[in-house]
Amino acid sequence: MIDTKQITTLGKLPMPFKVLYTGFLLVIGVGLMMAGAQIMLTHGMADGKPGLSKEDIVYSYYGNRSGSKLEAALTGKMKANAPDEVRFKLIQWARDEAPMDQWDKIGPLLEQNCSKCHDEDSGLDLVAKKEVAQKLAQVDHGASFAGLTRVSHIHLFGISFIFLFVGWIFAMSEFNARWKLILIATPFIFLILDILSWWLTKFWPEFAWLTMIGGFGYSLASTVMIFTSLMQMWLPRWADEDWKAS
Ligand code: HEC
Repeated sequence: MIDTKQITTLGKLPMPFKVLYTGFLLVIGVGLMMAGAQIMLTHGMADGKPGLSKEDIVYSYYGNRSGSKLEAALTGKMKANAPDEVRFKLIQWARDEAPMDQWDKIGPLLEQNCSKCHDEDSGLDLVAKKEVAQKLAQVDHGASFAGLTRVSHIHLFGISFIFLFVGWIFAMSEFNARWKLILIATPFIFLILDILSWWLTKFWPEFAWLTMIGGFGYSLASTVMIFTSLMQMWLPRWADEDWKAS
Protein backbone atom coordinates (compact mmCIF):
# COMPACT_ATOMS: atom_id res chain seq x y z
CA MET A 1 0.00 0.00 0.00
CA ILE A 2 1.38 3.39 -1.00
CA ASP A 3 0.33 6.45 1.00
CA THR A 4 -1.78 8.51 -1.43
CA LYS A 5 -1.85 11.61 0.81
CA GLN A 6 1.89 11.99 0.35
CA ILE A 7 2.91 15.53 -0.69
CA THR A 8 5.59 14.61 -3.18
CA THR A 9 7.74 11.65 -4.19
CA LEU A 10 11.50 11.52 -4.63
CA GLY A 11 11.33 10.99 -8.39
CA LYS A 12 9.34 14.19 -8.82
CA LEU A 13 11.58 16.46 -6.75
CA PRO A 14 13.06 19.53 -8.47
CA MET A 15 16.64 18.95 -9.58
CA PRO A 16 18.37 21.13 -6.93
CA PHE A 17 16.78 19.05 -4.15
CA LYS A 18 17.75 15.80 -5.85
CA VAL A 19 21.36 16.97 -6.02
CA LEU A 20 21.29 18.23 -2.43
CA TYR A 21 19.79 15.02 -1.02
CA THR A 22 22.03 12.81 -3.14
CA GLY A 23 25.15 14.62 -1.91
CA PHE A 24 24.02 14.23 1.68
CA LEU A 25 23.11 10.54 1.34
CA LEU A 26 26.37 9.63 -0.40
CA VAL A 27 28.47 11.35 2.26
CA ILE A 28 26.43 9.72 5.04
CA GLY A 29 26.83 6.35 3.31
CA VAL A 30 30.62 6.70 3.26
CA GLY A 31 30.47 7.99 6.86
CA LEU A 32 28.59 4.86 7.97
CA MET A 33 31.24 2.66 6.39
CA MET A 34 33.98 4.65 8.12
CA ALA A 35 32.13 4.27 11.41
CA GLY A 36 32.08 0.52 10.86
CA ALA A 37 35.81 0.46 10.13
CA GLN A 38 36.51 2.63 13.16
CA ILE A 39 34.59 0.25 15.43
CA MET A 40 36.57 -2.69 14.06
CA LEU A 41 39.86 -0.87 14.68
CA THR A 42 39.20 0.52 18.16
CA HIS A 43 36.99 -2.12 19.76
CA GLY A 44 37.81 -4.97 17.40
CA MET A 45 41.32 -5.39 18.79
CA ALA A 46 40.41 -5.02 22.47
CA ASP A 47 40.86 -8.74 23.08
CA GLY A 48 44.05 -8.82 20.98
CA LYS A 49 42.36 -10.65 18.09
CA PRO A 50 41.15 -8.89 14.95
CA GLY A 51 37.41 -8.78 14.28
CA LEU A 52 34.61 -7.65 16.55
CA SER A 53 33.53 -10.22 19.11
CA LYS A 54 31.46 -10.20 22.27
CA GLU A 55 34.70 -10.23 24.30
CA ASP A 56 35.81 -6.97 22.64
CA ILE A 57 32.65 -5.25 23.79
CA VAL A 58 32.91 -6.71 27.28
CA TYR A 59 36.55 -5.54 27.55
CA SER A 60 35.68 -2.06 26.28
CA TYR A 61 32.75 -1.38 28.61
CA TYR A 62 32.90 -3.79 31.55
CA GLY A 63 36.67 -4.03 31.49
CA ASN A 64 38.91 -7.02 31.82
CA ARG A 65 38.65 -7.40 35.57
CA SER A 66 41.07 -10.27 35.67
CA GLY A 67 43.85 -7.76 35.12
CA SER A 68 44.97 -4.18 34.49
CA LYS A 69 44.75 -2.06 31.33
CA LEU A 70 48.51 -2.34 31.13
CA GLU A 71 48.34 -6.12 31.17
CA ALA A 72 45.46 -6.16 28.71
CA ALA A 73 47.41 -3.86 26.38
CA LEU A 74 50.57 -5.97 26.68
CA THR A 75 48.71 -9.16 25.84
CA GLY A 76 46.52 -7.45 23.22
CA LYS A 77 47.00 -4.31 21.18
CA MET A 78 50.57 -3.60 22.35
CA LYS A 79 51.78 -7.18 22.16
CA ALA A 80 54.01 -6.57 19.17
CA ASN A 81 55.76 -3.60 20.78
CA ALA A 82 57.95 -5.40 23.30
CA PRO A 83 59.81 -8.71 23.49
CA ASP A 84 58.23 -11.40 25.66
CA GLU A 85 60.65 -11.07 28.59
CA VAL A 86 59.96 -7.32 28.82
CA ARG A 87 56.21 -7.87 28.67
CA PHE A 88 56.53 -10.52 31.36
CA LYS A 89 58.36 -8.11 33.70
CA LEU A 90 55.87 -5.33 33.08
CA ILE A 91 52.89 -7.63 33.66
CA GLN A 92 54.50 -8.94 36.84
CA TRP A 93 54.94 -5.37 38.05
CA ALA A 94 51.28 -4.61 37.29
CA ARG A 95 50.13 -7.74 39.16
CA ASP A 96 52.21 -6.69 42.17
CA GLU A 97 50.09 -3.49 42.18
CA ALA A 98 52.77 -1.36 40.55
CA PRO A 99 55.17 -0.77 43.48
CA MET A 100 57.05 2.49 42.95
CA ASP A 101 60.25 1.23 44.56
CA GLN A 102 60.71 -0.89 41.42
CA TRP A 103 60.39 2.11 39.13
CA ASP A 104 64.16 2.26 38.49
CA LYS A 105 63.78 -1.17 36.81
CA ILE A 106 60.42 -0.54 35.13
CA GLY A 107 61.10 3.01 33.92
CA PRO A 108 63.96 2.03 31.59
CA LEU A 109 61.90 -0.83 30.09
CA LEU A 110 59.11 1.59 29.24
CA GLU A 111 61.66 4.11 28.02
CA GLN A 112 63.23 1.59 25.63
CA ASN A 113 60.11 -0.10 24.28
CA CYS A 114 57.27 2.33 24.60
CA SER A 115 58.52 5.92 24.69
CA LYS A 116 58.87 6.34 20.95
CA CYS A 117 55.07 6.44 20.76
CA HIS A 118 54.09 7.16 24.36
CA ASP A 119 56.04 10.40 24.84
CA GLU A 120 54.96 13.72 26.37
CA ASP A 121 52.95 14.69 23.29
CA SER A 122 51.04 11.43 23.09
CA GLY A 123 48.50 11.99 25.88
CA LEU A 124 49.55 8.64 27.34
CA ASP A 125 53.02 9.44 28.58
CA LEU A 126 54.23 6.24 30.22
CA VAL A 127 57.75 7.34 31.02
CA ALA A 128 57.97 10.91 32.33
CA LYS A 129 54.65 10.61 34.16
CA LYS A 130 54.98 7.67 36.52
CA GLU A 131 51.38 8.13 37.71
CA VAL A 132 50.09 7.32 34.22
CA ALA A 133 51.89 4.00 34.14
CA GLN A 134 50.82 3.27 37.70
CA LYS A 135 47.18 4.05 36.99
CA LEU A 136 47.20 1.78 33.94
CA ALA A 137 48.57 -1.00 36.12
CA GLN A 138 45.43 -1.00 38.27
CA VAL A 139 42.56 -3.41 37.61
CA ASP A 140 40.72 -2.51 34.42
CA HIS A 141 37.11 -1.49 35.06
CA GLY A 142 36.40 -0.70 31.43
CA ALA A 143 34.83 2.55 30.32
CA SER A 144 34.63 5.26 32.98
CA PHE A 145 31.38 7.01 33.90
CA ALA A 146 32.76 10.29 32.60
CA GLY A 147 33.81 8.65 29.33
CA LEU A 148 30.49 6.88 28.85
CA THR A 149 28.46 10.00 29.60
CA ARG A 150 30.52 11.99 27.13
CA VAL A 151 30.30 9.46 24.30
CA SER A 152 26.59 8.81 25.03
CA HIS A 153 25.50 12.42 24.70
CA ILE A 154 27.63 13.03 21.61
CA HIS A 155 26.13 9.93 19.98
CA LEU A 156 22.54 10.77 20.90
CA PHE A 157 22.72 14.38 19.71
CA GLY A 158 24.87 13.79 16.64
CA ILE A 159 23.47 10.57 15.25
CA SER A 160 19.82 11.51 15.73
CA PHE A 161 20.38 14.38 13.26
CA ILE A 162 21.74 11.97 10.67
CA PHE A 163 18.66 9.77 11.08
CA LEU A 164 16.36 12.79 11.00
CA PHE A 165 17.57 13.77 7.54
CA VAL A 166 17.92 10.24 6.18
CA GLY A 167 14.36 9.51 7.37
CA TRP A 168 13.12 12.86 6.08
CA ILE A 169 14.33 12.10 2.57
CA PHE A 170 13.14 8.49 2.71
CA ALA A 171 9.67 9.69 3.84
CA MET A 172 9.21 11.02 0.29
CA SER A 173 9.90 7.65 -1.31
CA GLU A 174 7.26 5.38 -2.79
CA PHE A 175 7.22 2.52 -0.33
CA ASN A 176 4.83 0.24 1.49
CA ALA A 177 3.30 2.59 4.06
CA ARG A 178 3.68 0.30 7.09
CA TRP A 179 7.28 -0.65 6.26
CA LYS A 180 8.09 2.97 5.70
CA LEU A 181 7.04 3.80 9.26
CA ILE A 182 8.99 0.86 10.64
CA LEU A 183 12.14 1.80 8.73
CA ILE A 184 11.97 5.43 9.80
CA ALA A 185 11.48 4.51 13.47
CA THR A 186 14.05 1.69 13.60
CA PRO A 187 17.30 3.73 13.76
CA PHE A 188 16.01 5.85 16.64
CA ILE A 189 14.91 2.83 18.64
CA PHE A 190 18.18 1.02 17.99
CA LEU A 191 20.20 4.12 18.82
CA ILE A 192 18.60 4.23 22.26
CA LEU A 193 19.11 0.47 22.63
CA ASP A 194 22.74 0.81 21.59
CA ILE A 195 23.54 3.52 24.13
CA LEU A 196 21.55 1.71 26.81
CA SER A 197 23.51 -1.46 26.08
CA TRP A 198 26.85 0.28 26.80
CA TRP A 199 25.64 1.21 30.25
CA LEU A 200 24.15 -2.21 30.88
CA THR A 201 27.39 -3.87 29.72
CA LYS A 202 29.39 -1.62 32.02
CA PHE A 203 27.63 -3.33 34.94
CA TRP A 204 26.60 -6.69 33.50
CA PRO A 205 28.88 -8.08 30.76
CA GLU A 206 26.05 -10.41 29.61
CA PHE A 207 24.51 -7.43 27.78
CA ALA A 208 27.33 -7.17 25.22
CA TRP A 209 25.15 -8.94 22.62
CA LEU A 210 22.71 -6.00 22.77
CA THR A 211 25.48 -3.64 21.65
CA MET A 212 26.10 -5.77 18.58
CA ILE A 213 22.38 -5.95 17.70
CA GLY A 214 22.02 -2.18 18.22
CA GLY A 215 24.73 -1.25 15.73
CA PHE A 216 23.57 -3.87 13.25
CA GLY A 217 19.93 -2.70 13.46
CA TYR A 218 20.49 0.89 12.60
CA SER A 219 23.09 0.17 9.93
CA LEU A 220 20.64 -2.13 8.17
CA ALA A 221 17.71 0.30 8.37
CA SER A 222 19.77 3.25 7.14
CA THR A 223 21.27 1.20 4.30
CA VAL A 224 17.79 0.31 3.04
CA MET A 225 16.64 3.93 3.33
CA ILE A 226 19.71 5.37 1.61
CA PHE A 227 19.62 2.90 -1.30
CA THR A 228 15.87 3.25 -1.83
CA SER A 229 16.07 7.04 -1.80
CA LEU A 230 18.98 7.20 -4.24
CA MET A 231 17.32 4.75 -6.62
CA GLN A 232 13.99 6.56 -6.64
CA MET A 233 15.62 9.94 -7.26
CA TRP A 234 17.65 8.82 -10.24
CA LEU A 235 16.20 5.73 -11.91
CA PRO A 236 13.80 6.64 -14.76
CA ARG A 237 11.09 4.36 -13.38
CA TRP A 238 10.29 6.85 -10.62
CA ALA A 239 11.00 10.05 -12.56
CA ASP A 240 8.32 12.62 -13.26
CA GLU A 241 7.07 12.55 -16.84
CA ASP A 242 6.10 16.26 -16.71
CA TRP A 243 9.55 17.26 -15.53
CA LYS A 244 11.25 15.39 -18.34
CA ALA A 245 9.02 17.00 -20.95
CA SER A 246 9.75 20.57 -19.78
C1 HEC B 1 54.34 2.02 17.55
C2 HEC B 1 53.81 2.90 18.55
C3 HEC B 1 53.56 2.32 19.94
C4 HEC B 1 54.44 1.66 20.75
C5 HEC B 1 55.90 1.31 20.48
C6 HEC B 1 53.72 1.38 21.98
N1 HEC B 1 52.45 1.85 21.90
FE1 HEC B 1 51.00 1.68 23.33
N2 HEC B 1 49.67 2.62 22.12
C7 HEC B 1 49.95 3.12 20.86
C8 HEC B 1 48.75 3.75 20.33
C9 HEC B 1 48.63 4.42 18.98
C10 HEC B 1 47.75 3.58 21.32
C11 HEC B 1 46.33 4.07 21.29
C12 HEC B 1 45.53 3.44 20.21
C13 HEC B 1 44.63 2.36 20.67
O1 HEC B 1 44.09 2.42 21.79
O2 HEC B 1 44.41 1.46 19.86
C14 HEC B 1 48.36 2.89 22.42
C15 HEC B 1 47.69 2.54 23.57
C16 HEC B 1 48.29 1.97 24.67
C17 HEC B 1 47.61 1.70 25.91
C18 HEC B 1 46.17 2.02 26.20
C19 HEC B 1 45.29 0.90 25.80
C20 HEC B 1 43.87 1.15 26.26
O3 HEC B 1 43.14 0.16 26.25
O4 HEC B 1 43.53 2.27 26.59
C21 HEC B 1 48.52 1.13 26.76
C22 HEC B 1 48.29 0.68 28.19
C23 HEC B 1 49.77 1.05 26.03
N3 HEC B 1 49.58 1.55 24.77
C24 HEC B 1 50.92 0.52 26.56
C25 HEC B 1 52.10 0.41 25.85
C26 HEC B 1 53.29 -0.16 26.40
C27 HEC B 1 53.45 -0.68 27.82
C28 HEC B 1 54.24 -0.11 25.43
C29 HEC B 1 55.66 -0.60 25.49
C30 HEC B 1 55.81 -2.00 25.74
C31 HEC B 1 53.62 0.50 24.24
N4 HEC B 1 52.34 0.78 24.55
C32 HEC B 1 54.28 0.72 23.06
C33 HEC B 1 51.16 3.07 20.19
C34 HEC B 1 52.29 2.44 20.67
